[in-house]
Amino acid sequence: MASDTSFRCATCGFRSGKWMGFCPQCGADEPLVETGAPSRKAAEAAAVTLTEAGEGSHERIPTGWSEVDRVLGGGLVPGSVVLLGGEPGVGKSTLLLQLAGSLAAHGRSALIASAEESVGQVAMRAGRLGIASEQITLVSDDDVDAIVALADRSRPDLLIVDSIQTVGVPEISSAGSVAQVRESAARLIRLAKDTRTALVLVGHVTKEGGLAGPKILEHMVDVVLYMEGDPDRGFRVLRSNKNRFGPTHTSGMFEMASDGLMEVEDPSKLFLQGWEYDVAGTVVYPAVEGRRSVLVEIQALVVPTGQVQPRRSIRGLDPARVNQVLAVLQRHCGLQLHDKEVYVNVVGGWRLAEPGCDLAVALAIASSHDDRPLGRLAAWGEIGLAGEVRPIPMEQRRIEELDRMGLHRRIAPQAGKALRLVDALDQAGL
Ligand code: TYD
Ligand code: MG
Repeated sequence: MASDTSFRCATCGFRSGKWMGFCPQCGADEPLVETGAPSRKAAEAAAVTLTEAGEGSHERIPTGWSEVDRVLGGGLVPGSVVLLGGEPGVGKSTLLLQLAGSLAAHGRSALIASAEESVGQVAMRAGRLGIASEQITLVSDDDVDAIVALADRSRPDLLIVDSIQTVGVPEISSAGSVAQVRESAARLIRLAKDTRTALVLVGHVTKEGGLAGPKILEHMVDVVLYMEGDPDRGFRVLRSNKNRFGPTHTSGMFEMASDGLMEVEDPSKLFLQGWEYDVAGTVVYPAVEGRRSVLVEIQALVVPTGQVQPRRSIRGLDPARVNQVLAVLQRHCGLQLHDKEVYVNVVGGWRLAEPGCDLAVALAIASSHDDRPLGRLAAWGEIGLAGEVRPIPMEQRRIEELDRMGLHRRIAPQAGKALRLVDALDQAGL
């Protein structure tokens, strides 16, 4: 009888009454394995009432960092699993070490399993960050079962595994392979659920932007966070792409200093500090990051050159979009740019992926080209190839932030009313 046998996914533990060639729960493309049917008695699952289940579901461990707590939806949930992704060098290990330090300062314990760095290296960094605690245990081991056994015995509030790509299980030989990463994660997740330990897995992101190999981990974990920022510059953003316990698309902002990461609670204020608006070539763009608006300064510098192929140096923006803005300025607004070098920069190492910043970029370039300062001006709108400027989403949020920061001169397309780029330049006095 079919019900006498059951099949189980070796990765996530999913059970099914019938055999399948893949796991419908976690997507593992290995067949479910047959398990001896548990006896009728043992097969009965442990049940709780809704009330019982609700108790404790609100339990959170505040990290002591408001930016992190906001992204997590109020703090770490015991037994939850967080995947922290980011490019090498962005600051993942630093952030987690500081979080462990903060938890320790609030009487919580953390176990840091670092396969990537030696215990000495982690301790040295902790020393530099001013973290010294009996509550933080370090282990440098790449054997998942050894880490699981240690965590099971010591029962930390938080277990950090840095990184999931550098730990493994002996049964699977290929280090860093998808199967290896998946099995390692599965064992750690099981431990987290069984012992109600909050678990953070660090995952390296490849150049293409995906988590190397373990895209699959995103389905297995409760929370997916990404850390981004220009490694050479100060700003770091922590974004939540998935959160079973809180809102997604929230973000936290940090600055990397010589003594570690610092929270940035009012990024607009910080970005506009030292804004020299009486110089040509600068405009403010009200960006939207997560659920809030952040005012960023866009700077441009246009200088004549004898080069046949004039230099285009673009930082923090999509070069293809800036080149399109340059083409529209030249074709529809009569700006001579083919014999000039153009530098465009988002101040503070911020990266803008929104096409909504086109108009601010265009005005900054035109301002530098004409050598005419624009003063305290903010602008937004997406520029089309025909020289039109289109409205962009979340305008109200942007306006509120400009109001808050006292920036009242604005150029933007009005809903239902077409704005030509050439007229926008005119409004700016260019
Ligand atoms: P790290 O946390 O090791 O990055 P990841 O774990 O994501 O690979 O961060 C490394 C970078 O951060 C390194 O280039 C140096 C810089 N850093 C500082 O600027 N200040 C500091 O206090 C620390 C600890 C690191
Ligand atoms: Mg690291």
